[in-house]
Amino acid sequence: MEEAINDLKAPFSGSVTEDQEYSRTIPDPVHRLYTGDNLPVLKYLLAEIPQGVKLIYIDPPYNTGSILNYRDRFSVPCKKTPPLKKNTDLDGWVTNPATDHSPWMSFMFPRLAIARQLLRPDGVIFTSIDDREFPRLKLLMDWIMGEKNHVGTIVWRKKVVRGRGNRHIIPQTEYILCYARDVSMLPPFREPLTDDMIDSYTKKDASGPYKEIPLAKSGTAHSPRPNLVYPITAPDGSTIHCPTHQWRWSEKTFLERQNEIIFRKTRKGVWRVLTKQYLETVDGLRFRTPTSLYDKVTTTDGTRELRSISGTGNFDFPKPSRLIRDLISWATTTPPAPTKPEIILDFFAGTAPTAQAVIDLNREDQRRRICYLVQNRIELPETTDKILELAKIRIQKSREGSPEDPDRQDFPEGFRLYHYFPPASREGS
Ligand SMILES: C[S@@+](CC[C@H](N)C(=O)[O-])C[C@H]1O[C@@H](n2cnc3c(N)ncnc32)[C@H](O)[C@@H]1O
Repeated sequence: MEEAINDLKAPFSGSVTEDQEYSRTIPDPVHRLYTGDNLPVLKYLLAEIPQGVKLIYIDPPYNTGSILNYRDRFSVPCKKTPPLKKNTDLDGWVTNPATDHSPWMSFMFPRLAIARQLLRPDGVIFTSIDDREFPRLKLLMDWIMGEKNHVGTIVWRKKVVRGRGNRHIIPQTEYILCYARDVSMLPPFREPLTDDMIDSYTKKDASGPYKEIPLAKSGTAHSPRPNLVYPITAPDGSTIHCPTHQWRWSEKTFLERQNEIIFRKTRKGVWRVLTKQYLETVDGLRFRTPTSLYDKVTTTDGTRELRSISGTGNFDFPKPSRLIRDLISWATTTPPAPTKPEIILDFFAGTAPTAQAVIDLNREDQRRRICYLVQNRIELPETTDKILELAKIRIQKSREGSPEDPDRQDFPEGFRLYHYFPPASREGS
């Protein structure tokens, strides 16, 4: 832990150099990709982005022991563990190096602490993790971001096929932890309605399409509010009492919005009170609040997507860009559109699905978001170089967009490439 705190406290050192060759081939700089260790680069960004980052998405190494694409093993032998007395039942529990999670936590701690500093007051961070390091990450995030700023945890159904090799429970899910810099400043998340939901607005009046929904509140009485319980007078003069624990509107709202109230009699002669819910609101199309279960895309989609872009899916489970695009969209589509672009940061960029997500979303809703990516280039040169290549190809393809896309020209989405070098080194970080 001491080492992790020292890592955090050490000031930025080293240098950041722009790759002139890359900038020549990719004009209109907008987004940025930094290569090198993300810890010094994050410190560098503190000065580079004084306005702060609106949203961070990260997919850090999961500490699974996989070395296929990059170093993903953080356990070390626990040399300091005192030997246990013989015959103890605890043998093998404390001494098993694979159960030591502290190197992974020490790696994550300073990076998350600086990530928090980089966030704007209304900023938010999403972190992907599987169930092995989930408990450690949750504790770290609670500690660094504050438990009260835990917005929620998304369970991502990453697989629908059963797969083999697991005798007890087949893992099909992983997690995305979401924390606000300050939850009281974070605007509500919004998700577009599905086509089926839009189709359910079948009625229409001068204010546009609407559907009828009961005024009586459904669900259980978690927080009863006496001002939501009152009798209503039906068109025939009889009295209607709320059939559930309370109405959705106060009596004052009910009286003010009479033109949105509909009375209907059931076949059994019981009065029902309904309200008109319009598809369009003053802020544009109605939206809904996302739920904690996400199952729109799987890892297979991520692999297929990368393969279609680069001709090879040779990377351990790239994240589908749609997943990241949806998270970004939840937090950055609230009207009105900001006058200055919002910054999206991913400091474990891998093959750059976050760049694709940002570019695609900018095209889709015509808003300007700028992405900053960081990806190291040290561990296994023969594979990390390939990751960077895959990232560049993905960035290039996303920039070009589809030839059929009419908005393609309006969004040049240029990129700049920078390399971080530690002090007294120019070759590698
Ligand atoms: C789980 S992968 C991210 C995959 C990415 N979301 C994708 O879909 O392609 C984590 C990435 O972080 C990179 N990484 C690990 N440690 C790093 C560090 N200290 N600085 C920068 N990048 C690092 C690894 O090389 C790896 O590509």
